[in-house]
Amino acid sequence: MNTTNKMTLIVNLSASHTEESAALKKILTGKLKRLGRGKSYSENAQRGYWPADYFGLNQSELFNGASPEQQDEILRQCSDHLLREAYFIEKSGLTFCAKMVLLAETTEVAQAYSLMGADEATHLQWITPYVPLILRERPGGEFVFFLKQLIEQGDANCLMYLLQVILEGWGLHHYKDLSVSCQQAELRSVLIDIVRDEALHQHTGAVLFQPQTVSHIQNEFIQDSLASFLEMIRVGPQAVVSHVDLVLGGLSKARKIQLIEQISGPEITARKLKLLQRLMAVPGCEKWIEALDARKMFEPYLAYQCV
Ligand SMILES: [Fe+2]
Ligand SMILES: [Fe+2]
Repeated sequence: MNTTNKMTLIVNLSASHTEESAALKKILTGKLKRLGRGKSYSENAQRGYWPADYFGLNQSELFNGASPEQQDEILRQCSDHLLREAYFIEKSGLTFCAKMVLLAETTEVAQAYSLMGADEATHLQWITPYVPLILRERPGGEFVFFLKQLIEQGDANCLMYLLQVILEGWGLHHYKDLSVSCQQAELRSVLIDIVRDEALHQHTGAVLFQPQTVSHIQNEFIQDSLASFLEMIRVGPQAVVSHVDLVLGGLSKARKIQLIEQISGPEITARKLKLLQRLMAVPGCEKWIEALDARKMFEPYLAYQCV
């Protein structure tokens, strides 16, 4: 094993990103333009890029009974949440690729991760205009912190499986869903192009990951990480519930349970867990899936358990 595999890394997701340097902005946009990867952006002051049915809210009595202003605010907050998360995922992707370049044991692997890093920098540049500055200042959301920890603690082989095969595969489906329902043409075009790149990133992980070399410690790290991620998914659409709660002001437990049921929380979660199970099912990884299955980790929590 390469000795740099033991490197210590802190992922600085709070690095300033104010775009104050006009000269640097010109370099970034000029470079992407020359590569044929420039994107146009048009402002949408309301920032509700996805409709109510994307979040299942069209089936919610609470949402349908809210005022038009409250509905707009809920959808704006839900859209902001998705875009802020995408921003920090892409930002994390940059650090991940930098780490993998340093850990690469062959020149081709270093080249592959450098090219991948350029994709992540491009995605970040495309997503940034849609995320208000205040939401870019500090990372938020359980998933982003999970990702940060994985990148900091994982070795190359574990990360090829956890981050590329599973999370990039997961991201691929997530971005695809987002692109299908997105209401703004420019953002839809960004999401479609990200999907194309992510498919290759996932494939690269599948080609490079070597399950037969996983050590006892790596085995534990992978199992614990998979379980943590599944727990995050099993609890259902927490973000949507918290935005409705925030805008409509202090929902009772019974109302939250009703909301989760009406937006089909457990059914959608069950589909997501099935997808994850499929993504995890790489030859040589069966034992992890069996162990998680035995702990019923692929089953969603019932609505009352999610609040
Ligand atoms: Fe990306
Ligand atoms: Fe990626």
